[in-house]
Amino acid sequence: MSPTLNTLSVPFLDLKTQNQAIKAEWTSAIDAVTSESQFILGPAVARFEAAFAEYVGVKHCIGVNSGTTALQLALHASDVGPGDEVVTTPHTWISTTWAISYVGARPVYVDVDPKTYNLDPQLVAQAITPRTKAILPVHLYGQTCDLKPLQELADRHGLTLIEDAAQAHGARYQGRRAGSIGRMGCFSFYPGKNLGAFGEAGAVVTDDDAAARRMRCLRDHAQDGRHNHVEVGYNARMEGLQGAVLDVKLRHLDAWNAARRRNAARLSELLDGTPGLQLPTAASPDAHAWHLYVVLVEDGVREGLLQRLAERGVAAGVHYPTLVPFQPAYEHLGYRPGQLPVAEDVARRCLSLPMYPELTDMQIEYVAESVKECLKTC
Ligand SMILES: Cc1ncc(COP(=O)(O)O)c(C=O)c1O
Repeated sequence: MSPTLNTLSVPFLDLKTQNQAIKAEWTSAIDAVTSESQFILGPAVARFEAAFAEYVGVKHCIGVNSGTTALQLALHASDVGPGDEVVTTPHTWISTTWAISYVGARPVYVDVDPKTYNLDPQLVAQAITPRTKAILPVHLYGQTCDLKPLQELADRHGLTLIEDAAQAHGARYQGRRAGSIGRMGCFSFYPGKNLGAFGEAGAVVTDDDAAARRMRCLRDHAQDGRHNHVEVGYNARMEGLQGAVLDVKLRHLDAWNAARRRNAARLSELLDGTPGLQLPTAASPDAHAWHLYVVLVEDGVREGLLQRLAERGVAAGVHYPTLVPFQPAYEHLGYRPGQLPVAEDVARRCLSLPMYPELTDMQIEYVAESVKECLKTC
């Protein structure tokens, strides 16, 4: 190993470099908000909502205070509630299921596809009962799900298809952007996402005029006109400063995603053929926004590999080690080991390597070389 490579360190994410590169743009956008002093919703949020709706290719974007709330509002506005079932994935960030619980419905988990780790449409079909009200797939790690069969199922059974696109800003399915295919698409702008705010933020996008109107109302204490609260609402408004920052960053999203794709391709090229390593794949180049670059390692290797990588200055992570139905919060649902074999296998063996637009060639080479070296002793 060359001495230069030996001294490298590769963080899991490098927001500082990204923010520094566009500092002039966001400082002036923030200045404009403070001059106007419209800190809740206001013109900056309205500008971002219009720009993001156009970017995704839908009529409406409703800016809210997190991705979790976006999912909750989408389910609420689809009249999903107590007694209803929502078919979803067990392998995701837990918010997908939180939102189902918040509206009083019951999550029903089905197994995932072994290549994409996204919901398997055939298993979704088998899980539909007379109580099913919605299907809630997640575009995991940034790769769009196979939505056509899911939409067909939704149409055939009168269900609502809601996309959890929290990790897939800009990814496409058959030419259309993630979030624009189901009745609603939900996004998170958590700072580490491909499009991230300077704090908490999220959005729902939709072509449905009535649902959009209802969600605009719901997020603002369900006010339909000042002091007229038409149902039990939320304080879920997006902040003006977040709207301003997101509007600036949206202009860079395609370039950042292109850099992620290049970096993912380079890393895959360097890691290709490494014994004991299963690399991520993309159904088509634009289907994956590479929010995360997730490999599968052999059983029992992950903890040692994480440790050895950390010793070499490479920060890796695990997304996610425990399936949602096996979390203590959801033990009461009664899922047992062996019921979701593919997802269980992925959860046991997945490991996320650093992936972001600002990775340098040298850092990518160092990550690949470190993984290969460390695996030899794991
Ligand atoms: C798949 C998925 N769904 C929902 C969320 C929730 O978003 P937030 O953290 O903005 O509430 C996230 C983000 O962490 C996510 O990755």
